[in-house]
Order: sequence, then structure tokens, then C-alpha cells
Amino acid sequence: MRIGVVRETRGDERRVAATPETVKKLKDKGHELLVEREAGLSSSIPDADYVAAGAHLVEGEHAWAAELVLKVQRPIARAGGHEANRLASGAILCSFVYPGDEPELNDLLAAKQATVLAMEAVPRISRAQSMDALSAMANIAGYRAVLEAANLFPRYLPLLMTAAGRIPPAQVLVVGAGVAGLSAIATAKRLGAVVKAFDTRPAVRDQVKSVGGEFLQLELEAGAEDKGGYARAASDDQLLKIRKLLHEHGVQSDIIITTALVGGKTAPKLLDAATVRAMRPGSVVVDLAVEGGGNCELTERGAAIQVNGVWVLGYTNLAGRMPFDASRLYARTVLNLLTHMHGKEGFKLDLADEITGPVVLMYQGEARVDAMKPGAV
Ligand code: NAI
Repeated sequence: MRIGVVRETRGDERRVAATPETVKKLKDKGHELLVEREAGLSSSIPDADYVAAGAHLVEGEHAWAAELVLKVQRPIARAGGHEANRLASGAILCSFVYPGDEPELNDLLAAKQATVLAMEAVPRISRAQSMDALSAMANIAGYRAVLEAANLFPRYLPLLMTAAGRIPPAQVLVVGAGVAGLSAIATAKRLGAVVKAFDTRPAVRDQVKSVGGEFLQLELEAGAEDKGGYARAASDDQLLKIRKLLHEHGVQSDIIITTALVGGKTAPKLLDAATVRAMRPGSVVVDLAVEGGGNCELTERGAAIQVNGVWVLGYTNLAGRMPFDASRLYARTVLNLLTHMHGKEGFKLDLADEITGPVVLMYQGEARVDAMKPGAV
């Protein structure tokens, strides 16, 4: 099969969907790899490395014309026309898709009789962990969030004892202790800060402790977690209690990282404007939930703003700010998914399979989920 690796064009995207390592493995399975020139450049991967791995370097149109196209972001509308129009008829697209956000996309993919593999739809089961792009990227985002905050923070993070006196450690509060939150806690701790964390799921208490954080306990009535162990949306009453708790601890914090999300829903607003305004000047809030609308009332998507001397960062795509390693991990999740789908004769999409089934959002132009239907937006 001809597999195309195309260059990303979204403004904040520096990752690439295949690395020389994954290109070589796909080639070893008998495929022809067509890598668009400079596809890896913003991830610090030179074209020559792809060639050494056995890929052909091609112009964009040839990579897009492949039978299977690997990408990070879904195709987007550009000045020269919509990228989805560049796909060949009957092609397979593998990328993050998040259908239902972009009006034209579903129609264009259906018109192309495309088959769409969505990386965000990999089920979160043990067997699919090596294909879980969301977790891989959340881990990086949590790490990067702390570095972004530390970079703007005008103080040390660790305790410092010097001849000129003692500097106390910074206080970091992490809201939401899922994959990104735990990564942020571990990173802040490694940098020497004192870290507290809150999550509605009491089950994460031990995980928070194991990476060096203090878990803030809040007695919420039962129901914070569903049967699969994932967070349920908090009730209005619960939200009030959470906001109060976060105000009490937030105003004493130097850095707050918010990561609270509930699958498929708008992010809960947990950090009041009043809390941010009451923080010490120089403090930093990083809102990792920005793609879901943000956890902080003041967050502006894609922007870094200052309120009373407190930074509020609403950067999208924090994983994309560490493109080399983010590409390396994303490319491996893509490779692992494709390997799972690979039979002796090549790719075979078994729609009844517990991993492949949920990932295929559209099969040969037919939507398999409502959000992928033409006109679903
Ligand atoms: P996520 O990104 O959807 O949410 C982040 C965190 O926010 C979650 O821990 C959630 O409980 C928390 N949260 C939601 N509402 C909140 C509120 N009102 N206040 C405070 N916190 C709130 O979740 P993520 O990180 O994608 O996954 C969560 C958990 O799922 C992981 O920690 C892990 O235990 C499990 N998981 C299992 C996988 C597997 O078995 N393959 C893969 C990935 C995650």
C-alpha cells in the first residue's frame, strides 16, 4: 500500500504523524512510504532521515494522493481550498478528527468515499494502551504546562538556602489528576515545588501521593465516577463546593495548572475570576482544559493574558510545543494502531473488533457515528 505522510498546516502544529523509526517499520511490512518534503522539519527531523529510513520524498500532492494518509490534525480549510479535497477517492485518513466541529469536513470526506480512522477514538482499554494517542499527548502537555509556568514565574520553584537568606519553595496547585495532571504534579515536584492536587475521583488520591503531591479531599456525595472509573460531570452543588475549595487553596498558590475534563462535555468552570485576581502578582495559571472551553473563567483560547499581574495561559496544543518527542510518541501510537489492523495480506479493517470498530468513524464514505454524518455540525 502507498502510505503518505503529509506536512501539518494548522498554525500551532509542529508535530508530524510518522518518524523515521515508524516509517522503517511500515516499510518492513511491505508498504511504500511517501513523505512530503519538510514534513518533519518543525519536529527537528530532517528529510534525509526519512530517506535513510527508506521513504520517498515527494511533493505534497503525491503524499496526499496515497491510499493511506497519516496526519496529526484533521484536514482543514485553507486559502487554496479544503485539504480534504487533496485526498484520493476511496483513501484512508488516519489523524485526530474530532468530528462535529467543522461544517465542511464530513461532506467532503463522504464525497471522497473516505475511510476515517480517528486517533482520539482509540478505546481506553488495557489492550489498546500502546495506541492511546490522547494519553501520550496528555503526558507531554502536563509536563510542558509546568515548564511554561516556570518560565514566566519570577521566582524559584525549589527551596533555596543561601548565604543571603532562605527562599521558600513555590506552591503549585493542580486541578484534575488524570494523565496530564499527574504528569504536571510529578514535574512540579521534580523542580522542587510543594504540590497540592484536587480531583473529583477519590480513586486518584494514591496516584497523586505516589508522584509527590498532597491530595485535597472534598466530601462529595457519591457519583463522581462512572462504572468505568471516569469522571462524571459535577452537579451545580458540587461545583460550588469545588470552587470554594479551589479559592481557598488557589489564593495561596503561585502556580495553578488546571486539567479537569469530562469526556465529550464542555470543561467545568472551576477557577473563578475572583480567585485569580486574589493571587499574588507574578503567579501563573495554565489552563490545559482550553480545548474544552477552559476551567478558568478568565482563560482566552490560544492567548497569554495578565490580570492584576497574574498570568493566565490558554495555549492550545501544548504537546505540539515539544514536537520532537510528541511526534515520536504520536507516530508510535499510529504505528501500533496500524499494526493491530494489519493482517498477513495488508491492512484489514475488522469493524467488529473492539479497537478497530470504535476508531473507524467513517467507512468508505458511510458515517459510523452521528457526528461524522454530512451536515452534523
Ligand atoms: P480527562 O483528561 O478526561 O480528565 C482529567 C481529569 O479531570 C480526570 O482525572 C477527571 O477525574 C478530572 N475532573 C473532571 N471533572 C473534574 C472536576 N469538576 N474537578 C476536578 N477534577 C475533575 O482524563 P484522562 O487524563 O484522559 O484520564 C483519566 C483517567 O482515566 C486516568 O487517570 C486513568 O486512570 C484512566 N485512563 C485509563 C486508560 C487505559 O486504561 N488505557 C488510558 C487513559 C486513561
